[in-house]
Amino acid sequence: MTDSSLLTQLELPGPKSRAAFDAEAAHLAPGTQSVALFSRLCIDRGEGAVLIDADGNRYTDLLAGVGVASLGYAHPKYVAAMSAQLARSHVGSFTTANRAALVKLIADLAPGDLNRTQLYSSGAEAVEAAVRLAKSHTGKTEVIGFWGGFHGKTGGVLPLLSGSFKHGLGPLMPGMYASPYAAVGRGPFGDDAATCTQRTLDFLRQKIALETTNDVAAIIVEPIQGTAGNIIPTPGFLAGLRALATELGALLIADEMITGFGRTGRMFAVEHDGLVPDILLCGKGFGGGFPMSGIIIRESVAFAKPWANPSGSSSSYGGNPLAAAAARVTIETILEEGLVEHSRALGAKLQAELASWQDELAIIRGVRGRGMMIGFDLVRPGTAKLLDKAACRWIFDTLLARGVLAMIYNPEVRINPPLVITEEQAMAALATMRDVLREAQDRAG
Ligand SMILES: Cc1ncc(COP(=O)(O)O)c(C=O)c1O
Repeated sequence: MTDSSLLTQLELPGPKSRAAFDAEAAHLAPGTQSVALFSRLCIDRGEGAVLIDADGNRYTDLLAGVGVASLGYAHPKYVAAMSAQLARSHVGSFTTANRAALVKLIADLAPGDLNRTQLYSSGAEAVEAAVRLAKSHTGKTEVIGFWGGFHGKTGGVLPLLSGSFKHGLGPLMPGMYASPYAAVGRGPFGDDAATCTQRTLDFLRQKIALETTNDVAAIIVEPIQGTAGNIIPTPGFLAGLRALATELGALLIADEMITGFGRTGRMFAVEHDGLVPDILLCGKGFGGGFPMSGIIIRESVAFAKPWANPSGSSSSYGGNPLAAAAARVTIETILEEGLVEHSRALGAKLQAELASWQDELAIIRGVRGRGMMIGFDLVRPGTAKLLDKAACRWIFDTLLARGVLAMIYNPEVRINPPLVITEEQAMAALATMRDVLREAQDRAG
């Protein structure tokens, strides 16, 4: 086994990255993603699952722009399709051959009878569009989200999240609620999967009965919670939500921005539970990095007005020629290159590798995941207490200096590499991570 501490440790950021970062920082408003602020790298380019900074340093990317770069960087098919489209037209809502092919492809791949797609530019925008459609279809007004859920930062979705994203930003849009998510060891309902599912669903029913005006238009849920730390729900929870939504005459919206299009080893994560939502949301990896999102809808729901009126569900950039080309080539490449199967097979190996460290490394606990959406917790060795942020930051910095970029600056670690990462690249990155975690454990000691 390689001991990565004996390998080169970069001095980061390098001089060119530092100069570019500092020049930008003089005028860039605050609030950029943590990974960019912590690393202070100026990225010059990428190749597959490798990023290369302005100083020529190379990093294996276990982050993929938070699940966005599904095809990695500079994929030849992506570059060719985007370049060809850019040379023809890039603006407007007229039909293009790419968009016609894209919506057909999505209808063929989507679960059950979801067969109508509308396209947007950001995740939050698609979530808001889905909520508007749910209100149009049901004639009802209230929406339920979940603790630990994340659906973006715009005003219409903030009340659905729990936690600090909405602190200080009130008053929030009324009629929106957040209830616990059923996951073992998280939330208020215990460590036993079966009772956790039942108690969480019972609580939700009570919440609806006691707190809402009994006018629920939609329940929105991530089939695996990404931002919370790649958290898998307990068995039966999603099915319980499906049944509850139907009973209430509400729509079930599955937010698959991260989980969709192969990330979890299935085309869509709801397939793990045999679930068909009424609306499925996609974004992030959907366009392979082009700012693009979509909402995939049942035929019987899609025509509700005013959402379905001409210009009722549209936006300036949604599904424009370049966006449609991006999503089409991304999905076709995922299919052609068997990336869903690759995500499932390699993801299982990576998860097994991480799980095998738990005996030796008391700093890691709770390895979990599906496909290439993997999580674990960093804890103070010998306790159940999450590792403090300073220690996590040391791990992030040290790992980066040894050529691996990962979302390990929080104790709820998320591993979501580009779907094109090779086994060799991924296993080498994990070997380096293991060495760094061993050193972190000794330091925490
Ligand atoms: C599940 C989920 N939904 C929605 C969003 C919001 O997407 P965007 O940042 O494109 O608005 C995110 C972003 O992280 C997400 O993870």
